[in-house]
Amino acid sequence: MATKNKPAKKALTKKAPTRKAPTKKAATKKAATKKAPTKKAATKKSSQGVKAKPDAAKGLRDLFENELKDIYWAEKALTKAIPKMIKNASSEELVDALNEHLQVTEEQVSRLEEVFEAIGVKAQAKKCEAMAGLIKEAEEIMQDTEKGDVRDAGIISAGQKVEHYEIATYGTLCAFARILGEDKAAALLSDTLDEEKEADEKLSEIAESSINIEAMAD
Ligand SMILES: [Fe+2]
Ligand SMILES: [Fe+2]
Repeated sequence: MATKNKPAKKALTKKAPTRKAPTKKAATKKAATKKAPTKKAATKKSSQGVKAKPDAAKGLRDLFENELKDIYWAEKALTKAIPKMIKNASSEELVDALNEHLQVTEEQVSRLEEVFEAIGVKAQAKKCEAMAGLIKEAEEIMQDTEKGDVRDAGIISAGQKVEHYEIATYGTLCAFARILGEDKAAALLSDTLDEEKEADEKLSEIAESSINIEAMAD
């Protein structure tokens, strides 16, 4: 009996230190590995400073003009992308809302031309990488869903991402125009900002009142 108890005690005392040891080591290892990459990331950041192009904006007016060109491209691209969303939508309510916003978007393109005129700059489009990406994502969402309620819910989600991007852009452009003393441009941009907010709200309303519920039942 005594020989049976002894090894059991020894086993216990042996186990305890082996359990503690790796925990301590692991902790020191973790702390060390946590500190090292932070230092490395900091060095990487400083070496990744973006080099400005020779034609980089010299001031807020240049930045304002550049961003106007960017959203001009985006709105034009949307006049081609929205019809594709309309063709893929099933809900009559959604089709109507998209048709209405297509018309509004076409007017927004013309309104931007008025903004360019108001500030005395030739209307010019510059590729908007963000909108190109959002439009590509909308296509992916449609490919990833069967035509019907679920695709409709996806089209709304893609549409709202677009609206939010536009709300952010026009909000900034309005603020730039105001501070630059371009009151006419600010008023025009503010009209568009209101339309984008309205479109976003309309999409939320359609999704929450019917499409999301029907898509759940699919
Ligand atoms: Fe728009
Ligand atoms: Fe819009």
